[in-house]
Order: sequence, then C-alpha cells, then structure tokens
Amino acid sequence: MNKKHFSGIISLVALICMSACTKKVEKKPIDPIEKIISEMTLEEKVGQMTNLTLATIANETDSVVVLDTAKLNDVIIKHHVGSIQNVLTHAYTLNEWHSIIEPIQKLTLEKTRHKIPFLYCIDAVHGANYVYEGIQFPHNIGMAATRNRSLVKECGAITAVQTRAAGIRYNFAPVLDVGRNQQWSRLGETFGEDTYLVTEMGVSAIRGFEGGDVSNPLHVAACMKHFVGYSAALNGKDRASANIPEIVLREHYLPSFRAAVNEGTHTLMVNSAEINGTPVHASKYLLTDVLRTELGFKGVVITDWLDIVKLQERHQVAETHKDAVLLAVNAGIDMCIVPFDFKFTEDLIALVKEGKISEKRIDESVRRILQLKKDLGLFEHPYLEQEAVDAFSKPSYTETALQAARESITLLKNSNGLLPLSEDKKVLLTGPYADALSELHGAWSYSWQGNKEELYPDSLNTLAEIFKKDSPATCLFDLSAWSKANEWNKNVLFKSAKSADVIVICAGEAAYAETPGNIPDLAFDSTQTYIIKELAKTGKPIVLILLEGRPRIIREIEPYCSAIVLAYWPGSQGAQAIYDVIYGKYNPSGKLPYTYPRYSGTLITYDHKLLDEAVEIAEPYKYSYEFDPQYPFGHGLSYTTFAYSPIKISEDTLSGTDSLKVSVTIINTGVREGQEVVELYTRDVVASITPCVKRLRRFDKVNLMPGESKTIDFILSKADLAFVNEKLETVTEPGSFEIMISDQKVTLYYK
Ligand code: BGC
Repeated sequence: MNKKHFSGIISLVALICMSACTKKVEKKPIDPIEKIISEMTLEEKVGQMTNLTLATIANETDSVVVLDTAKLNDVIIKHHVGSIQNVLTHAYTLNEWHSIIEPIQKLTLEKTRHKIPFLYCIDAVHGANYVYEGIQFPHNIGMAATRNRSLVKECGAITAVQTRAAGIRYNFAPVLDVGRNQQWSRLGETFGEDTYLVTEMGVSAIRGFEGGDVSNPLHVAACMKHFVGYSAALNGKDRASANIPEIVLREHYLPSFRAAVNEGTHTLMVNSAEINGTPVHASKYLLTDVLRTELGFKGVVITDWLDIVKLQERHQVAETHKDAVLLAVNAGIDMCIVPFDFKFTEDLIALVKEGKISEKRIDESVRRILQLKKDLGLFEHPYLEQEAVDAFSKPSYTETALQAARESITLLKNSNGLLPLSEDKKVLLTGPYADALSELHGAWSYSWQGNKEELYPDSLNTLAEIFKKDSPATCLFDLSAWSKANEWNKNVLFKSAKSADVIVICAGEAAYAETPGNIPDLAFDSTQTYIIKELAKTGKPIVLILLEGRPRIIREIEPYCSAIVLAYWPGSQGAQAIYDVIYGKYNPSGKLPYTYPRYSGTLITYDHKLLDEAVEIAEPYKYSYEFDPQYPFGHGLSYTTFAYSPIKISEDTLSGTDSLKVSVTIINTGVREGQEVVELYTRDVVASITPCVKRLRRFDKVNLMPGESKTIDFILSKADLAFVNEKLETVTEPGSFEIMISDQKVTLYYK
C-alpha cells in the first residue's frame, strides 16, 4: 500500500466518523402524525376508527336537517369520533351541506385536544347525487357502454369538484366489482362483466376523483369497493354468499383492485358478503395477506355499513359483538361504518385493555386515517375551500353529462332503419317511465333508492317534457295509462296509437338500490309485456326505450318492437340524450358492457368456456345451442356502417418480453358521421387451463366522417395474452393465439 492510498483511507475513515458523529447529534424531526399518535389516548384513537351516520348527530324536521348540539357533543367530544357520513333521507343543497359540515369542523377544532380535523364521507357514485344542485351522470354501467376512458375521467373530476364544494372530501366510489351475474341488483353500479373493461374504466374514474393530488381543492379521496368478489353471489342477490375458487378470484375479481392500488387510490371498502364460507370482513387472508402484503395497499380500509354487527347476526361467525370486532380488526379493517351507536368503539377499547388487540395494531389504523386526512389537506385547510365552491357550477358540466348520456345509449335493434325518426312522423309517446325522473336516474339519486319523484329538481326534464318542448307538433302523449299496474286504459291508448305513425314506449324497471333491488328472476314486468303486445296489434311500429340497471328479459316482446334503445340509468341529461338519439341528432355508439341474456336461467358471460356452448345433436336426443344471448357483449348499432381492413401485425411471433403492433383500419362506409368502438379480443388456442372463447384485451373509440378512415394501432405484449394457471401464477404459455377485431382475425405465435 503506498502513502497516497494510506492517507486516502485515513481521510475516508475520518469522514465516516465525522458523519456518524454528526448523525448522533442530528435529531430526526418527529413526524407530526407520529407525534399526535404518541399523545393520543386509546379512546381518542378508537374514535378515529369510528365512522357514524349523520342521523347520530342531526334530526330532520320538515325535510330540513338540523344539527343536535347534545348529540354532536357526545359524538365528537365525548367519543372522539373522527368521521361522519351519509344523509338522513335525501340530498341537500350546497348551503345546507355547508351548514352541516362547518359547525362540526368548528367544534372538532375548537373543542378537541389534538384538533384532528373531522372528515365527511358520501356516496357520490354517478355524479354528486346527494348535492341538490349537482350533476348526475349515467351510472357506471352506462359509462362502461361509452368505452370512453377520458369521458369517465372527466365525469369523475366534475363529481369530485361538486362533492368537495359541499365540504365533503371522501367519496365512496368507484365500484370495482365485476358484474358477472346479470341479476345482481348492483349490476348498474358496475362497469359491466369484463375484468379489463372494469379495470380500465375504474382506473379512469379514480384519476378523475383523485387527480393525482387529493390536497387539491378540486379533488376527493376515492374508495375502491367492495373488496372483493361481492358481485359473485350464488343466488344473484345482494349481500349473499359466493363460492369463488382462488384461480377465478385472481383471474376475474382481483385485477381491478390491483390496478387501483397501483394507481395510489387512498381507500378501500370491504365486501359485505362472504366467500367460500368466510365473511370478507373477517378474512385476514384477503384483508391483510392479499391486500396489504401482496398488493401493497397502504391506504385506509373501511368496512361497509353495519358489517361488523353482521359478522355476529348474519354470518354467525362470532358469538358476541365483541368477538366480531376482534375478528374484523385483526383481519385488517381500519375504520368501521358502525354507523348508529358506540358498540364498536366500546368493544374495541375493551379488547385493547384486555390485551386481545395490541395498541400497535390500533396505531397502524390511526396512522393510515391521519395520513388520509393529511393528504386531503384537512390539517392545513380544514374548512370549506372557496376554490371548490367557485368551480361548483359550469355550463360545461351539463354538456359533459349530456355527452356521457348520449355515448352510453346502446341501440340494440333497428329494423328497416326505423330510427332515426324524421321530424314529420307523428309519434305517440307512452310507457310507465315516459314522464318520470326516477327511472332516468336509478339508484343513489337525491335519495338512496332514487325513487322519490318529488325530490327531483324542477329544472330536470322527463322524456315527455323534452318531446313536448322539441316536437310539439308531432307528439301525442298517453302517460296515465301506465301509472298503475293492470289499470291501463286500453281504449284511450288505442285511440292515440291509431292516429300516430310510430309508438315510442319508455319502459324497464323502477328505480332501486342494493338489497331492495333483489328480484327472483330477470323477467320483464308482466303488465308492460302485456301492454306492449297489445299495442303491437295496432300495426304501428314500436320503439322501445329501456331504462334499467340490469338486463330484464325481453325475449317475448322483442319481436313486437322494431327498434330497441337501451339507455341504462342515464342521469340528469338522459331524456335529452334519448331524444337526440331517436331523432338522429346524435348517432348512437354505445356498446353493451354485459351479455344481454335471452333466458333468466342461462346467465353466461361472453368470456365463457367453449364447453358452455357445446352443441351435440345426436338422434334421438335433441341438444340445444346453449350460448344464444339476446345480444352479445359489445353489441351496439349505429346509424352509419363501418368496415374493417384485414388486421396487420408487425411480427407473426411475439418472443419473451417483446411487444408488437397490431393495426387495423376502419372506414365509415355510410352517409353519417359516427363513432366506432374498436375492440381487440384474443383467444388462446390451447392452454393448460381451459381457455375462454375470447377475451377483451384492448379498446379504443374513433370518430369518422362519411368516407373517412383511420388506422388504430394496439401494442401488445405477453401480459395481454396471459391468464392465471393452476399454480395461481399469471402466465403466457407458448403457442398460437387468435387476435380478433370486429370481423377480422389473425393468428399470432408466442414463444
Ligand atoms: C353500500 C356501500 C356504501 C355504504 C355507505 C352500503 O350500504 O353497500 O356501497 O358505500 O352503504 O353508504
């Protein structure tokens, strides 16, 4: 070793020594959250984990909500509750929201020891549905039909602004459940049956809600819900048991949550139901091993409504309520929507005191909750933010709602080009929902069920009002005939029908939400069915407009209807959008986000196995073709026509982790401008787990003028051909794959 080297080593040692010495004296600044936690009592910590409903601190007199000071003090000061949610019975105006939230915050900041701001939470699931002046977009099922990611994001961003302007910074949305059972009463809240579609739309909604920075006064914290497998109920009912093999869970139900976690979503709500005999609220495997360890979720896990109580009362896995609290907290919940009393709070305090739950475990949850509040900017700006209030109302929001409703509308049938109607056609507008707002909005609209017609603002239009306004000369109305089941006035209706050229019937299902929406089967309303058949006897062509959250079986009436327009739950601009489609002011482009079943007893998704459609006709037995839906997933007509060029792939073979380009050119071959959804499906020709007949892997949407063409490129890599194998690994096996876009197909090899 020479001298130079030696002196070099000496100075390095000196440097390390110096920095070590400096480190010793340098005090690491205490994280403000840790400081608060270290000073909090157990009761204060558990209060942060307690979420109550507004009814515990307020009363409603003559429809006006008034805070109850005694109750408020009990909740906020005595029990240290850190968050409140919901409405009493209906939506409030912006001012009413301010008069609810501001005093709670004032009390919290002035009268509690640590001045931890309180947090208000709401279900703004299709726009600011609990803010009276808010805009309501189509429900997720309609948004999925748009296949328009940026529109979903934009609607999410407007929802965020209007929610935050009310003083609410936490939104229980979006639903990331994959709607694979068409009978499920919450299908309308999902983005449909396909995992990729749900994931893409769900992530777009989250980007709109959170905007990458929830301290921004124009955004809110999102809540991916309901983790996981909620939509897979065996009996098709809300909050019912499901059997989901791990391989299916990972293939279909987990990916949307994985993507939302990767997106940085702040919170997650747990599935109220049970999977394979374990209620998800009691599943340490799902809530800790999968969610925290495997997916790496760092945010807040909130229970669903009353779900700890239900561990005892419904699932019967806990003998006492206290046992239920023990199960859920040890499984991994951070915050409990109790929501009416202090049972959770008291039992949790007792469990910690008895040493059954460690205070360290409580600190973990409190840390996440305080971090959420910090991220939301509540510590710095706890009160109403003027920037949000200023941005509350813009004419462009209504435009967006109209555009979303138009793009969601899915033209299922259009015999002999009946639609669009020309302005001179005499129309009879009728049907049970032709003059209703509830069925245009569906669930979670001004009230939980969305069915209180009297709550809807006068400024909103029903379909009849739009027709009266825009086509007064040609439109006849007969609305009363349908008001009561079986009490329709046949003579009156027939008379009106006789003098019309076309009959437009607005039917479907009455508004509902969650469990009250449970039905024994998907049968279409029998009175509506009867009247439609009777009206068809006039020989006048019928246009059926369907307002429904899930596909009701129309097999019997479909032959009597020349055109069928599916509008889902299109929201506040729904009537105008339907009118625009019927009269061709907008060329429909919506595509079904689910398989529209033909029979209630045959509910199959488009990505089923070949075995599900096996046909064998061997005399003397007769087998029927088993996959014959009313309309397939992705179906949706336009007033123009499109043609696809043969698919081009940049390579025939995809190797390892490379990627390749798939291109297709679409030309508008009709005479009208139109939007076309371009969907790329793959089919694994041979795989170790029976492959699905096809799977959606990419989609895009193009607008084309008559004669115009555009080339769409999709970049694919091995992940786009993958599936979950027997060992629960996501793999791409070597071999052939079919790539399908519209009526075009090519084969690709993976090695
Ligand atoms: C629903 C949730 C909702 C919660 C809070 C529950 O009944 O399942 O989706 O977020 O209520 O309102």
